[in-house]
Amino acid sequence: MKIGKNAITVLEKRYLKKDENGKNIETVEQMFRRVADAIAAADAAYDDKADVKKLSDRFYELMTNLEFLPNSPTLMNAGKELGQLSACFVLPVGDSMEEIFEAIKQAALIHKSGGGTGFSFSRLRASGATVRSTGGVASGPVSFMRVFNMATEAVKQGGTRRGANMGILRVDHPDILDFIDCKKNNADITNFNISVGITEAFMQAVQNGDTYELVDPKSKQAAGELEAREVFHKIVESAWRNGEPGIIFLDRLNRDNVVPSQGEIESTNPCGEQPLLPYESCNLGSINLVTMLAKDKNGWRIDYKKLERTVEDAVHFLDNVIDVNKYPLEEIDFTTKQTRKIGLGVMGWSDMLAYLGMSYNSEEAVALAGEVMKFITETGRRASARLAKVRGAFPLFGESIFAAGEPLRNATITTIAPTGTLSIIAGCSSGVEPVFAYVFIRNVMDGTEMIEVNPVLRETLEARGLYSDELMKKIAAEGTLQHIDEIPDDIKRVFVCSHDVSPLYHVKMQAAFQKHTDNAVSKTVNFAHNATMEDVEEVYMLAYELDCKGVTIYRDGSRAEQVLNIGSVK
Ligand code: CDP
Repeated sequence: MKIGKNAITVLEKRYLKKDENGKNIETVEQMFRRVADAIAAADAAYDDKADVKKLSDRFYELMTNLEFLPNSPTLMNAGKELGQLSACFVLPVGDSMEEIFEAIKQAALIHKSGGGTGFSFSRLRASGATVRSTGGVASGPVSFMRVFNMATEAVKQGGTRRGANMGILRVDHPDILDFIDCKKNNADITNFNISVGITEAFMQAVQNGDTYELVDPKSKQAAGELEAREVFHKIVESAWRNGEPGIIFLDRLNRDNVVPSQGEIESTNPCGEQPLLPYESCNLGSINLVTMLAKDKNGWRIDYKKLERTVEDAVHFLDNVIDVNKYPLEEIDFTTKQTRKIGLGVMGWSDMLAYLGMSYNSEEAVALAGEVMKFITETGRRASARLAKVRGAFPLFGESIFAAGEPLRNATITTIAPTGTLSIIAGCSSGVEPVFAYVFIRNVMDGTEMIEVNPVLRETLEARGLYSDELMKKIAAEGTLQHIDEIPDDIKRVFVCSHDVSPLYHVKMQAAFQKHTDNAVSKTVNFAHNATMEDVEEVYMLAYELDCKGVTIYRDGSRAEQVLNIGSVK
């Protein structure tokens, strides 16, 4: 296996099967075999002559070659008693004590099993509204979010990974101003990402400089109005201050809701890439694009034949996950199997561009993004149609927007996930993000320094006889290659990191992938510390104009406990 040292550390710590004393009782190879066997076994239900062993071998090969990896819960739990395999869930939050605390309980069960939950708090009555049974006043969505947050905090210790939540409030909810500010203090509501659910009517009002109406969630009556631009500026200011809230375009999520008869999509999963109906779950998987390259006499090129085969097998894999999955709730089991949504995406995009000699900051890369993702979604849909021939279409197919066409096994096929851990396991750049920093210096416990260099950069510099530890330390200290004299211009052009990519290209790249992705794209637009609020506003507007489903920004240094730092020796 080509698996690297960091990957093994992550897997040993959190993914390998353990005994009661917490001691690992499987190797990395055995983990992949456990997952391959468990997922391949689903074929037997459709065909008693199915060659499950052969399929398991193929799944094993995909994973151990680091060509395709399913989301973390599948790696952690497949073939084990827990058996909960999905990363993403959305739960409804109704406007009663029973429903609120039921949702907290359900979320706790999901977190315990390694999944993340998204909620819309828009159905909750506004703070100050009357509570009929007690004659008192309601505390409002934000105060209940704090309870969800505390519950997540408490479950954290027992679970396999930190529970993550998405909290969404519609821009026309009477408590929207409180919501926008609810994470003003960096220590508050830390287990949530928050996004304002933006409506088309609101965006029109922003563009026209109008007011817009707030709506009482209970009576659906008008409950006052606000200046749209003021609210928009407040969102921008808050995001500029410390990265939150993000925004999601609710009407676009619903425009692309493939089964509108099932009601409205109110929320996404924690990182924003997967819009779901209440009680739906989705399992994700990502293809490592670096492994989809082939070298010929003209250099590196995309091996579309290999990509095609990988997409087909990945769709088969993810469809099987739906069957093998042990769902934390009966309702989730039922709802998930009604639409059978899967979320196949990519990682290693930025590394792939480097091999191809393209800059992330370029029109040619933006065009390629569209081409690659179109290929993946179209191939994936064909694979899903083939599965439908044998296994049947997803049960709500007849009510879906696809009803007039060829039956499909899955209501959605593609999603671009952050691949936070998967990309460490695969040793490639994460999702469709640019590389954050090409060189890190890690201080190991005994005081020695370890230089970690992006493998594509290392290979490129070594081939040109330019590699040295001294040069790497310089890059690590600078955070970027752009101002280092020893680096030739053609290398500088290609090896651009997050902060070298202009916010404009961050958004253009997101939009290019979104255009050919069924669900949404996980993407953070990185800003330099000295970016202004106007810069942030411009990006929010651009994401709207380019038909993104949402946008998340982060200004360097705007949170004290930032995970990644540039130009710092760690
Ligand atoms: O790489 P990995 O499969 O671990 O996850 P990811 O692609 O970074 O995140 C995919 C999704 O997993 C997120 O959008 C969340 O829904 C969920 N997640 C979570 O629940 N808790 C985490 N600590 C990380 C991710």
